[in-house]
Amino acid sequence: MSEDTHAAGPRPTGREYWEDRYRESERIWSGEPNAALVAEVGGVQPGTALDLGCGEGGDAVWLARRGWRVTAVDISEVALQRARDGAARSGVADRVDTRRHDLAESFPQGSFDLVSACFLHSREDMPRERILRTAASRVAPGGLLLVVGHAGHAHWEQEAEQQVALPTPPQVLEALHLPQQEWQVQRAEEREREHASAGGHHADSVVKLRRR
Ligand SMILES: C[S@@+](CC[C@H](N)C(=O)[O-])C[C@H]1O[C@@H](n2cnc3c(N)ncnc32)[C@H](O)[C@@H]1O
Repeated sequence: MSEDTHAAGPRPTGREYWEDRYRESERIWSGEPNAALVAEVGGVQPGTALDLGCGEGGDAVWLARRGWRVTAVDISEVALQRARDGAARSGVADRVDTRRHDLAESFPQGSFDLVSACFLHSREDMPRERILRTAASRVAPGGLLLVVGHAGHAHWEQEAEQQVALPTPPQVLEALHLPQQEWQVQRAEEREREHASAGGHHADSVVKLRRR
């Protein structure tokens, strides 16, 4: 069997995997903003934001409701439609611009006051470190880069998800290769969070940098 085939047939592309995953149910995430985003950005003056791997738009809608103009990017059109629907329901459709990109291939143009990548994990091939380096290059002077990820695997995850690399905050910082004179590390820590749907607690890795 070649490397890109499963016993059940060819391995899906990242896009196929995520479109199918979203189509499986009407909603897969809570619709609430991520706790780390709320904690880290809640007090920040709104500007332009880029939400990478926005999913169903919980973060993008929360940001837009606080006055941010958000470019929300995902590989899945199904997810983006849900993000648009959520923005419309919240009356912020004019502040959420959805764009479909496979971030391994392309990125939105421009620079942003906030670039946020919350749980940009995929069990399909995704060059996360390279994507995060490009993300950093899109942060405007004085702006923020926020990278939030799982700090460890949960017992309820499937085997393929258990294989996804989950870097620690120092590993995220190292992989970003950012010049110290240009960036201030404001947060690099693991943080406990209550997991509403699965019950119990889960740890997040939170890295926040400000571009000088
Ligand atoms: C674990 S979900 C997180 C969704 C959302 N940020 C949240 O916190 O609820 C990962 C998201 O990344 C998206 N994604 C995966 N690979 C991608 C890629 N190569 N380019 C863009 N988005 C991708 C998926 O479609 C999915 O919506």
